[in-house]
Amino acid sequence: MATDKRALVTGVTGQDGGHLSALLIEKGYTVFGLIRGQHNPKKLAYQHEFPQVTLIEGDLTDPTSLFRAMEIADPDEVYNLGAVSHVGFSFKNPTLTLDVTGKGVLNMLEAIRLTGRSERTRFYQASTSEMFGGLDYNRPGRGYNEESLFHPRSPYGVAKLYGHWIAKNYRESYGMFVSCGILFNHEGERRGTEFVTRKITQAVARISLGEQDYVELGDLWPKRDWGYAGDYVRGMWQMLQHDQPDDFVLATGKSHSVEDFLAAAFGEIGVADWRPYVRQNPEFLRPAEVDILLGDASKAEGVLGWRREVDFDGLVARMVSHDRGLARSGG
Ligand code: NAP
Ligand code: GDD
Repeated sequence: MATDKRALVTGVTGQDGGHLSALLIEKGYTVFGLIRGQHNPKKLAYQHEFPQVTLIEGDLTDPTSLFRAMEIADPDEVYNLGAVSHVGFSFKNPTLTLDVTGKGVLNMLEAIRLTGRSERTRFYQASTSEMFGGLDYNRPGRGYNEESLFHPRSPYGVAKLYGHWIAKNYRESYGMFVSCGILFNHEGERRGTEFVTRKITQAVARISLGEQDYVELGDLWPKRDWGYAGDYVRGMWQMLQHDQPDDFVLATGKSHSVEDFLAAAFGEIGVADWRPYVRQNPEFLRPAEVDILLGDASKAEGVLGWRREVDFDGLVARMVSHDRGLARSGG
């Protein structure tokens, strides 16, 4: 597919960054990725997988580096995926989280505006269902949508809410094409092993090979609306192709507990009773928990024609199968 479009992706070494890089390359984009740090251990693997992508050194907390990135990439589209993205980590590192996940959005928007790209460059902000908070009073029966109230329950959620509102403010104040995707949890074979789904599927794979005895987790009752990351990055791209900027929820409309995920993942290796393989470790409990997340993606489905291909069972099967392959090859 040929296009002369140029895209800059922050957070390019993350889960969504990998899926989005593949999608944009397939669509013929010239892709630039922001990579942080003097020596980023993920750089070599990323370059090996995506040699077509030009990596630009920069950090969301360093405006000068973002101005430089904007001049080099001269992008038609910016996907701002970079963030401190782990909720538990954000409780222990709240100031860093604010700087990267919150102020980093402002730094990106200013880099676009002050380099004279307000009219040309479209901006995607990675907003999150964590902004809703999962509290009883705030939980519509059919799931959260674009009209639902926000009540973030972590430093991460609060920082994301700032990012969400400053992005909307630049849309309203400067007429910039800024769209926010309010995405519910999405997982897959690229998911970081610090997140509960991948932690479980990696453990299940190792347990099945006799390489691990049990997995240590926090609370097992919270429920999440878990989808597949490959489906969700397509939605991000669709948001920036739409004729006007807007906010969209992406979700599956189904919610499962961590226990449900455990049962499905252990079921993939023929283990019906997973309890002997799971221990609770208070280190993984959070000062405040989000009880349940359930999303309603009707707007994205109706307006953008967004569709999902992978359901919950398919997601779990895919992740366990991938991690068993990795474990067998010593990965
Ligand atoms: P991820 O795997 O944790 O990736 C985060 C990326 O941000 C990494 O590439 C990381 O770089 C980069 N980053 C961290 N600090 C940075 C800094 N100071 N400057 C520049 N880059 C920095 O996250 P993800 O799952 O792909 O999620 C992508 C985005 O969507 C995030 O903003 C996340 O908060 C949001 N989101 C995710 C979900 C989900 O379920 N996955 C749902 C809703 C919203 P390093 O590789 O160097 O660490
Ligand atoms: N990470 C982790 N590790 N979570 C655990 C563990 C554990 O050992 N044990 C239980 N959990 C519970 C968490 O307390 C939470 O209720 C649930 O599993 C999911 O945790 P995560 O996988 O860390 O995801 P998250 O829902 O907190 O946040 C993810 O989704 C958000 C969208 O709703 C992240 O990707 C965020 O960046 C994203 O915005």
